[in-house]
Amino acid sequence: MTTTRIPLIAAIVCLPLITACAIFSTEREFDGAQMFMANCASCHGRDATGSVAMGLNLTPPASDLTTISARNGGNFPWNSVLSTIDGFGQGGHNGAMPAFGEGDLGEPVLIERDGASIPVPAGLLALGTYVFSLQK
Ligand code: HEC
Repeated sequence: MTTTRIPLIAAIVCLPLITACAIFSTEREFDGAQMFMANCASCHGRDATGSVAMGLNLTPPASDLTTISARNGGNFPWNSVLSTIDGFGQGGHNGAMPAFGEGDLGEPVLIERDGASIPVPAGLLALGTYVFSLQK
């Protein structure tokens, strides 16, 4: 009897704790792929190649996001990608793409770049990492 009771008691005690942690956790999870499908696929396409009517009809058309590295000598230009998504420093940007930095991209997380720690909103990093993962 005792052997079956212990897991049951453990479950009764632990379950509400786990639920409470999930509700009160301050660290939100950002799923880059999911964010992309919800916010970007309308113009860039679900496959991110820009070959959807909405993206093709824009002036300039929505970019093929799978060839960014290929168009940049094999290097993924993190700075310009993140700032394009964020909308920061896009003074001369006359495209139709909205500035997502105006929305809620979450708390900043620190990333290491060139020996420096740079804070990047977690949601922006998730989107950038997803776009990076799409490079051909
Ligand atoms: C309303 C249409 C629209 C939506 C929505 C949109 N984009 Fe764009 N995006 C564009 C257009 C148009 C361009 C190219 C022209 C420009 O840069 O102005 C572009 C360019 C880009 C670039 C630069 C590509 C390069 O070749 O350097 C990136 C990166 C990008 N978008 C990512 C995203 C991400 C990530 C999202 C979703 C969070 C998103 N876009 C949502 C229209 C859109």
